[in-house]
Amino acid sequence: MQRILVIDDEPSIRELLKDFFTGRGFEVVTSQDGEAALNLLKENKFDLLLLDLMMPGMNGMDVLREIVSENLTIPSIMITAYASVSTAVEAMKLGAFDYITKPFVLEDVYLTVRRALDVSKLQEENFRLKKELKKKFSTHKIIGNSLPVQEVIRFIDKIADTDSTVLLTGESGTGKELVAKTIHYNSSRVRSNFVPLNCAAIPKDILESELFGHEKGAFTGAVTTRIGRFELASNGTLFLDEIGELAPSLQVKLLRVLQEKEFERVGGIKTIKVDVRIIAATNRDLEKAVKDGMFREDLYYRLNVIPLHLPPLRKMKEDIPLLIEHFVAEISKNKKKESPRISRETMDCLVNYKWPGNVRELENLIERLIILKEGDNITPDELPERFIENRQMPRVVTKSKSLSSEGVDLNLVLDEIENNMIIQALEMSKGVKSKAASLLGLNRTTLIEKMKKKSIEFHTKTVE
Ligand SMILES: Nc1ncnc2c1ncn2[C@@H]1O[C@H](COP(=O)(O)OP(=O)(O)OP(=O)(O)O)[C@@H](O)[C@H]1O
Ligand SMILES: [Mg+2]
Repeated sequence: MQRILVIDDEPSIRELLKDFFTGRGFEVVTSQDGEAALNLLKENKFDLLLLDLMMPGMNGMDVLREIVSENLTIPSIMITAYASVSTAVEAMKLGAFDYITKPFVLEDVYLTVRRALDVSKLQEENFRLKKELKKKFSTHKIIGNSLPVQEVIRFIDKIADTDSTVLLTGESGTGKELVAKTIHYNSSRVRSNFVPLNCAAIPKDILESELFGHEKGAFTGAVTTRIGRFELASNGTLFLDEIGELAPSLQVKLLRVLQEKEFERVGGIKTIKVDVRIIAATNRDLEKAVKDGMFREDLYYRLNVIPLHLPPLRKMKEDIPLLIEHFVAEISKNKKKESPRISRETMDCLVNYKWPGNVRELENLIERLIILKEGDNITPDELPERFIENRQMPRVVTKSKSLSSEGVDLNLVLDEIENNMIIQALEMSKGVKSKAASLLGLNRTTLIEKMKKKSIEFHTKTVE
């Protein structure tokens, strides 16, 4: 049952409202002065407040101010004599939901109360959802104990609640979008939208209207006025993904919004002001794009206020088991499958793999393994072929090299062994690549790719 607190110094009004709202299924508590009412409010839960403006002692405005300063969020409706409407308007500025003038019609009061309760329910729901999202994107959800990841997390904590533009760089799949959302949900902009826009995924000619919106009739097909992502992100965050792909004509327009904080819709003349935080991301080398004349230098400096580089997965190898554990738990739960065990040998292959697709590749692999798994233990045989090479490497290493006390450069050693093995295999198979590939447990195209990458050329001459 919903509870209403009525505060009025006139007994007849208290009785009238109490009888009426009790008859409509509410529980009604009344109070004749502000002071007592505040104590009631602090100790009990009410859904709504009906508050008389003119009272001896503490008046309605004082009560409202106290409610604000004590952070007692409750929808309040003021009751006021017609003469003091301007004060009622003041009250609304203080957060009152609405006001009704005396003398009132009870049905009108009822409608106002219903509306206030509906709005408050929506606001609460909205607040709950936002809180949930914030929890989902708290920095704890960025997995990793390695130094580079911990640095990223510390950095996010430091910059989230500023309005500064952030430029996220990093290879594909390193978590740029995850970080952008985390920044938004840890800032005070959380009350407004996080609006993503992938500059590479939208055709150039409609990107402008996506960004800035358009007026009805601006171009063929613009049958209604539509707001763009900038307006949608008002007071929130706009995530411009793959910013390096933005066409030069739009680079100019974006620069203007960043500088002036205003723009016009396509086909419009009205200048629209917005307060939007920009987070841009790219897996391109923007500095190089600037040098090559592909990206405006002035825009680059506007975007690169707070640069944040996300490390590739191969630089955070120690986090791989942690990430695997995280994705195994999450994906098994989502797919309603039992969590598989990852054998020691499988884990070795995964840790030693180069992960060109970074965390996304890892996440996709785990999903695939969970869906296709045979038993409850995942063995290296279940891994795609590209992982097998990594399985064989460590065995060769232990046989062929020993670690000296000065240490080694592991990548160099592995590279050397790999070159060596490939050349031996080519020699053994007299240059027949499919044969050499099968000796190495690779497929032919992988071998050819490796030879290209390592500039290994095999002529029959080298055999001599
Ligand atoms: N450190 C991390 N901890 C947990 N999950 C992560 C981490 N890094 C990335 N992910 C997850 O990996 C997936 C890919 O991340 P995201 O989409 O943010 O990458 P991206 O850098 O935007 O990639 P692309 O450049 O390909 O768009 C997402 O599901 C994301 O949640
Ligand atoms: Mg992305």
